[in-house]
Amino acid sequence: MLEIRNLSFAVEEDGKQKEILHDLNLAIDNGKFVVITGPNGSGKSTLARLIMGIEKPTSGSILFDGKDITDLDITERAKQGISFAFQQPVRFKGIRVKDLLRLAAGKNLSISAACEYLSEVGLCARDYIDREINSSLSGGELKRIEIATLLARHTRLSVFDEPEAGIDLWSFQNLIRIFEKMRREIRDSSIVIISHQERILNIADEILLLSGGSIRKHGTPEEIMPGLVGQNSVCEKLQ
Ligand SMILES: Nc1ncnc2c1ncn2[C@@H]1O[C@H](COP(=O)(O)OP(=O)(O)OP(=O)(O)O)[C@@H](O)[C@H]1O
Ligand SMILES: [Mg+2]
Repeated sequence: MLEIRNLSFAVEEDGKQKEILHDLNLAIDNGKFVVITGPNGSGKSTLARLIMGIEKPTSGSILFDGKDITDLDITERAKQGISFAFQQPVRFKGIRVKDLLRLAAGKNLSISAACEYLSEVGLCARDYIDREINSSLSGGELKRIEIATLLARHTRLSVFDEPEAGIDLWSFQNLIRIFEKMRREIRDSSIVIISHQERILNIADEILLLSGGSIRKHGTPEEIMPGLVGQNSVCEKLQ
């Protein structure tokens, strides 16, 4: 279980403190598929970075399975079983797709097992397995490879920041299928997805609505969706 207690995050801007997240309190149980949504700039990616340990909170604490992880760095948190897919994936020069999948799996993954993860994200494995993770990959390809690494990792808490960003409409269908499958196989791990997409919001166990750095609503899709739907983008409605 992930617990967030009185979490605030501020940055210094022009000599003044600018508060980005304000006193968040939240618990995510094992086995839950939680979607965080809210307008651009509401603090969703910041919250994900705090959970992952990329940023440190100004105050408050983060607990994972009862253990205080607030002072642990990103590597230590990864060891505890937390993984993260970025809104803008990182390119690793010199590393090939198969190496990245092996690193993620933490074992000497066979080529056929690595290929299965690529197929799951809709990439023709043969064409990608030996490709280097560099700027020759398109944004959508990179995003899919990153999702494949999270599938290979099987961590206890996976955080995806806008997995749909840069994915074309045709592949979006595939992406939904990946998340539906993850949800079916969730067992005692948890998945947190930051998304603006109604179809992803609809398959959530819980939706968390962030706005202006605070949690405005937290509930089931049945409770939260009626106030949001009716527009293509949840964000538009919220602004
Ligand atoms: N290091 C920083 N310095 C200054 N401002 C920051 C910093 N990090 C985040 N912000 C600001 O905090 C706010 C929240 O940013 P964040 O990236 O968390 O938003 P978001 O909800 O993920 O938005 P989007 O939907 O566009 O991805 C934004 O206004 C952003 O400009
Ligand atoms: Mg963001």
